[in-house]
Amino acid sequence: GMTTNHRIALIPGDGIGAEVLPPAQQVLDVMARRYGFNLSYTSYGDWSCERYLREGAMMPADGIDQLRDKDAILLGAVGYPGVPDHVSLWGLLIPIRRGFRQYVNLRPIRVFEGIDSPVRRARPGEVDLVVVRENVEGEYSEAGGRLNAGFPDEMAIQETVFTRAGVTRVLDYAFMLASRRTGRLTSATKSNGIVHTMPFWDQLVAERAASFAQVAWDQEHIDALAAKLVLEPARFDVVVASNLFGDILSDLAAAVAGSIGIAPAANLNPEREFPSMFEPVHGSAPDIAGRGIANPLGAIWAAAMMLDHLGHPAAARDITDAIASVLAKTDTRTPDLGGTATTAEFTEKLIELL
Ligand code: NAI
Ligand code: MG
Repeated sequence: GMTTNHRIALIPGDGIGAEVLPPAQQVLDVMARRYGFNLSYTSYGDWSCERYLREGAMMPADGIDQLRDKDAILLGAVGYPGVPDHVSLWGLLIPIRRGFRQYVNLRPIRVFEGIDSPVRRARPGEVDLVVVRENVEGEYSEAGGRLNAGFPDEMAIQETVFTRAGVTRVLDYAFMLASRRTGRLTSATKSNGIVHTMPFWDQLVAERAASFAQVAWDQEHIDALAAKLVLEPARFDVVVASNLFGDILSDLAAAVAGSIGIAPAANLNPEREFPSMFEPVHGSAPDIAGRGIANPLGAIWAAAMMLDHLGHPAAARDITDAIASVLAKTDTRTPDLGGTATTAEFTEKLIELL
């Protein structure tokens, strides 16, 4: 029969973004051969902060339309010294997330055998959780403004926007995911201090919970939850959170797991009306860029999430198994994990085990 073809947009971005995407592609190509599907890549090598410095925009005006017919987007990282971080975020990542209704930001966190967590109680094999972050509304809104700039009464206002539809759909995704995993869900809140939006969030959590009787759920205030994620990370399975809370919690949890270089993120449009986007959690790491020593595992794990989304769960599992193997069974690793291997050597070793 006809070979399934997936159209993949590659956006390497800046710094080590361009160093970690080729390893991810190598791994993807091994899986395509093994499982008999085809990946056709279109590379947008120029969409970056460097382009912004040259041309005043991270991507062309019709950038979103160029991506529209793709099945998925694999992104490296953006960020360049001298370009404010809000430019790269609002000039590329946020337009893609919002333009393609990628309202779920999914961040799996595992402590792998062979990784030293800075947290004593984060033992390998025990910590395996997923942060589900609301990705298009909440605290990261454009509602607000700045008044009286430069005067003593200068002020700034930024409004949080929670919509019933927007909160409900991400909760449904999180409850569904919890029901397919161990059946536990924790909602991050702060309804003691934030008295309008967070009680509404809590109310919607309770409403949706009624439809998922098989899921045991609770809620924790964000400050206490941050502490518990460090003290008892193995207790958590699915953590659902608003845009800002989820952003902070997922970086915290990735640090608990031992390295920011390993963590992946998926920006999902669950209805598949639009392409979803997959990326490592880390940034462009200007301090090590150009030296060929970036850890490629975050990008490789992101590629595994992409294959899972595209309907190849067995291939995705092969990749995460190989990540676990290379860490548990070999000493080969990049300097961020205490080794001396280059990105290429680490990738080669992983592919041997794949
Ligand atoms: P970063 O993640 O780029 O780097 C933080 C530290 O971790 C650095 O010491 C870096 O060398 C190390 N590191 C990160 N990824 C690594 C990898 N794969 N292998 C080995 N070491 C790694 O975060 P930072 O320094 O705060 O930001 C640098 C730039 O990246 C900024 O412009 C920031 O805006 C941008 N950024 C972009 C993101 C994205 O594209 N989604 C996410 C986070 C930051
Ligand atoms: Mg973050």
